[in-house]
Amino acid sequence: MTVVGIHDLSIATASRFLDLALLAERAGIDPDKYRIGLGQDQMSVPAPDEDIVTMAAAAAMPIVERHGASGIRTVLFATESGVDQSKSAAVFVHELLGLDPATRVVELKQACYSATAALQFALGIVARQPEESVLVIAADVARYAVDTAAEPTQGAGAVAMLVTQDPAIAEVEPATGIHTADVDDFWRPNDSDTAVVNGKLSIDAYLDAFVGAWDDYRARGGAAIESIDYFCHHQPFTRMAVKAHQRLAVHTGAALTPAQMESTTRYNRRLGNSYTASLYFALAALLDGEDDLTDRRVGMYSYGSGSIGEFFSLRIRPGYRTALRTEATKRILDSREPLDVDAYRALHAAHSASSEVDREIAPTSPAPFHFIGVQGRARRYARTD
Ligand code: HMG
Repeated sequence: MTVVGIHDLSIATASRFLDLALLAERAGIDPDKYRIGLGQDQMSVPAPDEDIVTMAAAAAMPIVERHGASGIRTVLFATESGVDQSKSAAVFVHELLGLDPATRVVELKQACYSATAALQFALGIVARQPEESVLVIAADVARYAVDTAAEPTQGAGAVAMLVTQDPAIAEVEPATGIHTADVDDFWRPNDSDTAVVNGKLSIDAYLDAFVGAWDDYRARGGAAIESIDYFCHHQPFTRMAVKAHQRLAVHTGAALTPAQMESTTRYNRRLGNSYTASLYFALAALLDGEDDLTDRRVGMYSYGSGSIGEFFSLRIRPGYRTALRTEATKRILDSREPLDVDAYRALHAAHSASSEVDREIAPTSPAPFHFIGVQGRARRYARTD
């Protein structure tokens, strides 16, 4: 059987960040509530010239530079921060990266889950046409209203993955478990640019879907808990992954250890929630960690509010480290500019999804791609490096 999976993985985030200790101080809250209670240290904050398209293109560019564009016949763009109700964000990325016109592009939506759907769809395409590769991109900006409990769980980021046969990083194993249930735990109505959330319900819905997805995974021939070495769980805030891990231990009766998932939280602690990209930032952090993962099995739990949970597994390939981008990721995270609370709040307030009036936006971020404004109600992007 053809082995298919993740051949390359590259990340991007916004160029600014807020230290959550500053937000806690402003709100008169013990900073340990965010640092320990939520497991978050910082959150990435986009500048006016940054959005899902610019982050997605920045994440995917190194993949195109390394492998060339000729094998890429499909781009699947997963997001819940879409910039248009009709045109796929993948079309903008296709143009910014100079991909071949003979490329299929589409956007997928189901809250934080849709990157996993995109990955599963990509596997099907590659299994049928092994000479083709699929660029899967997950990019989101998590925005909640200020002065709410959800405010410290904002964030932004993008992960791009190249899905191919004979992958360098990880085989995606065939068994998968799914649990879908209609729940009003978190959503973003068409007339709102911040999410509506029932925080406590969302935590229960996440965990219920986890148990349901796990049981379905096992019923469909998925690996026994003892043969899964590491776990990446969706991380809206990293303590949520700890809760998930503990729930799985109780549900299965297995003696799971914190060491099986601890290193997966390193990047998300600094980025905040990047919705669709969050699970794949957890994977990037695990891969970039010290443990040798060769031939190890990694359980992946993807959750999207509303709700869908999917559990599947990866088998890490021999020699995977040669394909990683550990130094680039470190550079991207370390080079973000710190904001104070007033500067962050000003950016939050200035955010506008409106296309009513033509406007120009000056490129201010050091990123290679910029949102440069709206003209005739259409969004415009540019590459400026
Ligand atoms: P909150 O009101 O801050 O909750 O809201 P809390 O008061 O229960 O505090 C949180 C934790 O901090 C608690 O720990 C406290 O004990 C602890 P827990 O009981 O959970 O173990 N704490 C402290 N710890 C140390 N020192 C202290 C201290 N004080 C308190 N001094 C909530 C938290 C997550 C609900 C809120 O931030 C929120 O609504 N966030 C957005 C929703 C969310 O992230 N939900 C997660 C599941 S849904 C999901 O993952 C989908 C999503 O990604 C979207 C999508 O799918 O598209 C969100």
